Amino acid sequence: MPSKKKIRPPAVIGLGVDLAEVSRIRRLAVRSPGFLRRCFTPKELAYSLKHLNNYERLAARFAVKEAVIKALDAKDLALKDIEVENTLSGRPLVKVKGFPGVSLMVSISHTGRYACAAVIALK
Ligand SMILES: CC(C)(COP(=O)(O)OP(=O)(O)OC[C@H]1O[C@@H](n2cnc3c(N)ncnc32)[C@H](O)[C@@H]1OP(=O)(O)O)[C@@H](O)C(=O)NCCC(=O)NCCS
Repeated sequence: MPSKKKIRPPAVIGLGVDLAEVSRIRRLAVRSPGFLRRCFTPKELAYSLKHLNNYERLAARFAVKEAVIKALDAKDLALKDIEVENTLSGRPLVKVKGFPGVSLMVSISHTGRYACAAVIALK
């Protein structure tokens, strides 16, 4: 007899958005040599720095991290515990350490001045 255990669809547990100024991220990186290494993972740096608009990409990843913190209401989360990767088609994926069972949906947009990200947390 088949099991009657109900499979529950994941529930939305949070939503976060953030807007980052590209010039601010550039300024912080220029002023403080450790800034990029403190905030971004090697994969994020490699992806962003291979593009001409590298600070736009970094600002976008910074916005994702802040949006994740908002979605999870987790101000103590280390920025490097949140990582953005892109699929072959360019679609962003985000992972976070220390939140078992939580999955995140993300969308990113950027221009020369601003980068924004929206994140939905599911459990
Ligand atoms: C993918 C696309 C929607 C991105 O939009 P855009 O206005 O060029 O750029 P945005 O700044 O808004 O978004 C860029 C981000 O989109 C995300 N993205 C890229 N491909 C994606 C995809 N397949 N699915 C979801 N998100 C995607 C990425 O996160 C990217 O930023 P990143 O590379 O720093 O991670 C766009 O390039 C595209 O393919 N549009 C299809 C229609 C089209 O070609 N129109 C032009 C006709 S003239």
